[in-house]
Amino acid sequence: MNSPSVPSNFASRIVSKEAIVGILGLGYVGTPLALSVARAGLRVIGFDVLQDRVDQLNRNDSPIKHITQDDITHLRAAGFEATTDFSRTAACDALIICVPTPLNEFREPDLSFVIATMNSIAPHLRAGQLLSLESTTWPGTTTEILLPYIEQAGLKVGENFYLAYSPEREDPGNLEYSTQTIPKVAGGQTDACLEAAVALYGSFIDTIVPVSSTEASEMVKLLENIHRSINIGLVNEMKIVADSMGLDIFE
Ligand SMILES: NC(=O)c1ccc[n+]([C@@H]2O[C@H](COP(=O)([O-])OP(=O)(O)OC[C@H]3O[C@@H](n4cnc5c(N)ncnc54)[C@H](O)[C@@H]3O)[C@@H](O)[C@H]2O)c1
Repeated sequence: MNSPSVPSNFASRIVSKEAIVGILGLGYVGTPLALSVARAGLRVIGFDVLQDRVDQLNRNDSPIKHITQDDITHLRAAGFEATTDFSRTAACDALIICVPTPLNEFREPDLSFVIATMNSIAPHLRAGQLLSLESTTWPGTTTEILLPYIEQAGLKVGENFYLAYSPEREDPGNLEYSTQTIPKVAGGQTDACLEAAVALYGSFIDTIVPVSSTEASEMVKLLENIHRSINIGLVNEMKIVADSMGLDIFE
């Protein structure tokens, strides 16, 4: 390893459960993620721009269909709190971005939500933190879009700040796998960044799959989505063929 190893402080705060994890974007990805982190005994603060969503979670209501009110009650009992006050990201050891990245009118990824999140947290970034992007995006985003914010804040990535990309790989509706059991791919900006990401995710996810860079990690996600999309398209086409021949595609 070329870069210095993660200061034991980050990893030891995870192990001792003193670390606070900030989750930015409390939707289909961020809410189950908050549950998994809290179940592992780490304190979670959730950040969102929607006051309604924050209020809903703080009164123990679930914003997501497959997450029960009981789940949110347990989350709150574990110390979870939602807020629109992004200055509180300074209190977090790790920050995980789960905001939308829809396609724009040219079918290109719209990074405006990620950029808005970076603008909200940039004034509060501090030494010792890990920032991990989970939103789906093109290979190169972490280096091109996130890294400049860290550098402008006067922080040294891989030395006193850790930057990673770890794609959310949830397969909605798949009852066999949960956030905890879906293998987590992680790539760091440096070796030390990867170590920090593995320390964090390894504390609440069963299997971590480290890759060599944030770009490799972003490419994994892109390839997986293309693979899934082609398979869904293929089966849909074959269903039309099977139906027209009086055959059952599920058989
Ligand atoms: N839903 C899935 O099954 C799934 C699976 C894999 C990957 N992803 C990816 O994960 C990312 C999040 O998707 P999702 O389905 O959770 O989206 P979502 O729309 O359900 O939730 C996003 C949340 O982010 C909040 N938000 C928007 N701008 C914000 C900002 N500037 N700061 C803080 N919060 C902000 C929204 O108010 C919303 O609550 C996307 O990139 C998506 O492509 C989603």
